[in-house]
Amino acid sequence: MVVPRVQAAIAQAFGEEFRDTDPVVRPSQFADIQVNAAMALAKKVGLAPRDAAARIVESLELDGLCTGVEISGPGFINLTFDGTWIEELLNAQASQPQGGPETQAQRVVVDYSSPNVAKEMHVGHLRTTVVGDSLVRVLEALGHTVIRQNHIGDWGTPFGMLIEHWLEIGEDSPEAALLVEDPSAFYQAARAKFDGDPDFATRARLRVVSLQSAHEETLEVWQRLVDHSKVYFNAIYATLGVSLEDDHIAGESSYDPHLAQLCQELEERGLARVSEGALCTFPAGFTGRDGEPLPLIIRKSDGGYGYATTDLATIRYRVQDLQADRILYVVGAPQNVHLRMVMESAREAGWLPDTVEATHVQIGNVLGEDGKILKSRSGTPVKLMALLDEAVDRARAVVDSSRPDLPEDVRAVTARQVGIGAVKYADLSVGHDTEYVFDFDRMLALSGNTGPYVQYAAARIRSILRKAGEAESVGEAGSLVGVAGSPGEPVAGEPTAAASIAVVEPAERALALHLLEYGANLRRVGELLEPHRLCAYLFELAQLFTSFYDQCPVLKADDSVRQSRLALCALVLHRLSEGLDVLGIETPENM
Ligand code: ARG
Repeated sequence: MVVPRVQAAIAQAFGEEFRDTDPVVRPSQFADIQVNAAMALAKKVGLAPRDAAARIVESLELDGLCTGVEISGPGFINLTFDGTWIEELLNAQASQPQGGPETQAQRVVVDYSSPNVAKEMHVGHLRTTVVGDSLVRVLEALGHTVIRQNHIGDWGTPFGMLIEHWLEIGEDSPEAALLVEDPSAFYQAARAKFDGDPDFATRARLRVVSLQSAHEETLEVWQRLVDHSKVYFNAIYATLGVSLEDDHIAGESSYDPHLAQLCQELEERGLARVSEGALCTFPAGFTGRDGEPLPLIIRKSDGGYGYATTDLATIRYRVQDLQADRILYVVGAPQNVHLRMVMESAREAGWLPDTVEATHVQIGNVLGEDGKILKSRSGTPVKLMALLDEAVDRARAVVDSSRPDLPEDVRAVTARQVGIGAVKYADLSVGHDTEYVFDFDRMLALSGNTGPYVQYAAARIRSILRKAGEAESVGEAGSLVGVAGSPGEPVAGEPTAAASIAVVEPAERALALHLLEYGANLRRVGELLEPHRLCAYLFELAQLFTSFYDQCPVLKADDSVRQSRLALCALVLHRLSEGLDVLGIETPENM
């Protein structure tokens, strides 16, 4: 709310070129917030910091917003808001918590999850799935049109051996079921035959040829194999509560029919040339150690197409057919050079106009406690489903001991929400491009910046509101029903009979100010593509709620205060569950 005003003041005081300066707004000990921008600006504009601060204050338009503006210390601008203004904004939010999106709506294509057929989804895929799904939810919540693209690895030479193996064991055999239950084991079995049985290897190679020449019978078998694999992906997605569906699959195979033409066009236009037998582009700005331009191979010397060719095709398709304004590749960080080279080549070919922003949302590795990429004890990839089951089991043990009063089925639901929520939150709460250590104890902890901590605050408010509701239904008014909302419930725009919120105590004020930042925070998450900022926001909200609840009695307060505080609780709950929802995390009813 204040940020645009401070930016306008900076622009007015020092010139338009300074408009985008970060105002550096921080909590203050002496006021509601402090603006620290003057310190960094001072040098640039050739003033002492306090003078720079004074110039900003002169231009600051704060009509009715603040009751106090003060320059302190080396040049902090301390702002104290007008209490009435806070209450007005807060009550406007409470009655219309959904609000209209203020951003200009775009068409955003998001490539995420993208596992490979007949391979175990590893924790890296878990993370691209979780982060990608949260980004699509954030962008949708901001009013953008999001097109999900699951770029599964469903094409290439290994499919010769996979198909032959699949035909040999029979589609209904227990070994074929491995494709769903333990895909890596299926792959290994096919691989072992390929390496150990020359006849099999020959058949596998012929099968690749048959697949590439789109032989009908082969395509049919291939399709059944891929469909079988989707059962596995979908089981993981269902367990995770991820919004990907079969319709979002646009795998590598779907681009295959366009690759020959794509290469031909680039070659004819002089944008690609043959080097050592392979057709390559040489995107500007990429050189090898020897200083020579780095090639991006788009047609191998044997005539085959690869990962880079397909990815060039994804860009062309997403811009021309899907009409993207913005394209996100939520993909492991090690693929950064590959994706940047592809993007640059696409720009040079005119397939990625300057008006379309393409971003690699880099996903960092998930490490084991030994600091190396997470693997099972035997060194094989960790089975994702087993990992998720363990998270739920561990959460179940906690719920069983802390809430033996809850019925069995309720405990089961809570354990699932908390276990899965903890894993997802751990993925989301650190910078998506940083590595982190997968640690059940830490992610399930009820303190600190964890999923369970935030969920617990929400569940606690639900219980407070339930108690209040019970008390009320004994009395006359049943006014709280409309506000105790989570995103799934019909809250938006519904007239609620809830009392208006009075912001009196310091803990109420701190909570109120933080609530007012929700929209700005969400927009920032959407711009910067950083879900960890939303986690940090929710964590702070949960903490502020906890200190409010410690300091300000709610259920025991006198009637009007009680109504006001209940309405404040309801708004906090709404924001917590809405925030968790855009992270893709459920809010338990009980915890
Ligand atoms: N299947 C790839 C992998 O497992 C990820 C694909 C990402 N998307 C893309 N358009 N390249 O590493």
